[in-house]
Amino acid sequence: AAGTATVSIAGNQPGPTYDRRIFTQFAEHLGHGIYEGLWVGKNSKIPNTNGFRNDVVAALRNLSVPVIRWPGGCFADEYHWREGIGPQNKRPIKINTHWGGVTEPNTVGTHEFFELLRQVGAEAYVAGNVGNGTPREMAEWVEYMTSPAGSLADERAKNGHKAPWAVPFFGVGNELWGCGGNMRPEFAADETRRYATFIKAPAGTKIMKIAAGANVEDYNWTETMMRVAAPQLDGVSLHYYVHPAGGWPPRAPAVDFDENGWADALAGAWRMDELITKHSAIMDKYDPQKRIFLAVDEWGAWYAQDPGTHPGFLRQQNTLRDALIASIHLDIFAKHADRVRMSAIAQMVNVLQAMILTDGGKMVLTPTYHVFEMYKPWQDATVLPITINTPWYNKDQFTMRAVSGSAVRGKDGKVHIGLSNLDPNQANTVTVNLDGITASSVTGRVLTAPAINAHNTFDAPEVVKPAAFNGAQVNGGTLTVTLPAKSVVVLELQ
Ligand code: AHR
Repeated sequence: AAGTATVSIAGNQPGPTYDRRIFTQFAEHLGHGIYEGLWVGKNSKIPNTNGFRNDVVAALRNLSVPVIRWPGGCFADEYHWREGIGPQNKRPIKINTHWGGVTEPNTVGTHEFFELLRQVGAEAYVAGNVGNGTPREMAEWVEYMTSPAGSLADERAKNGHKAPWAVPFFGVGNELWGCGGNMRPEFAADETRRYATFIKAPAGTKIMKIAAGANVEDYNWTETMMRVAAPQLDGVSLHYYVHPAGGWPPRAPAVDFDENGWADALAGAWRMDELITKHSAIMDKYDPQKRIFLAVDEWGAWYAQDPGTHPGFLRQQNTLRDALIASIHLDIFAKHADRVRMSAIAQMVNVLQAMILTDGGKMVLTPTYHVFEMYKPWQDATVLPITINTPWYNKDQFTMRAVSGSAVRGKDGKVHIGLSNLDPNQANTVTVNLDGITASSVTGRVLTAPAINAHNTFDAPEVVKPAAFNGAQVNGGTLTVTLPAKSVVVLELQ
């Protein structure tokens, strides 16, 4: 049996831009996220350019990753930038107290980060240390990175980079309610005002300052931050992770789940819509012009670590379920694109809902990677309003809309439509009314697999990968699409 959904897309009512920075990725000094996943060092047998592995960088380039957020996460609020500059063999070896208590060699520091950005073709989103740093340390880091003149610029030149770098985005700490200092919102908002005061962009440049935002449904945090610190800010963040099987600490397996675990996680992904709606409504009170953006700069699935891996390294496999979690989020961000102008999936390589997994010289692309690749036309596209009348998918205590979707007019001028069928047991036939859109043909790609927990391994790297999709026809102003069970479909109209 197949369900039926009806969708309407308003081609003549262009909405906001789907900011490419919604595809920002987060790379923290955590487990093998940086070391091994990205950085192998110049002398490694793994092919690399200036220390960064060529295979991973090429895969990231293929995604057109717009921005990388670094160095944390929780790591950021203990990071002292001076320890990561100068000769690599003279840098202090620290303990990564948050993530496994392992040694942190500081080999990847500011210069290496900007080399990674250069290779990937991405912009910088640097997270500063409010937790155990000072406003002066933060201000000097910003000056070191961005100033064209002065002693810090001279020091940067001595360390190998004469020209200033651009830092378009700067985070004023991270999770100040928790690992960033266990602050109460009033105190955090005051600290944010104070630190942000000293983040100064050189003439003719702009640094967008992003406050450490709320955890999940902590609306009082957003309220307080906006009331107290809005004039100093360009963005406020929000962190929300999907963790099925009853919350914290994450205990659900990444691969060995049944349909209950599938439904639990996808219901968790839908929750992002409610969270953004409510946080945005608070922001609207203080910023009706929507000058300040909501940066959902940590999102994704967080499961129990893979069996046999270090508990502090947050290494998890990535299945078809994660692909659907990603597409649901990307669709929700389209709905809220007027306020959500940045998001960052956690994390880029080998950590949490990663794009890429590595093991020594081996690399594999995850189902989540493929969704990001399929949604590339969304980057800086114009959102088209979409109405979806969807059947419901129910499993045990979980009830949710079975079809998720979004539509954009891409920078290529074409209409692109993403549709996901969350129902793992039946297809859904979707009738799409194309209002104000002329199309004579449609092409598409689909991501699906026989099993809900299908995933890619180093031995079988192409179990889940996009395939050509022939299940859509366009006839006049109507598009008919048969979405296979448990699938993500992306269509392009001609
Ligand atoms: O992404 C892993 C961690 O999750 C980050 O370091 C922290 O900000 C959040 O709690």
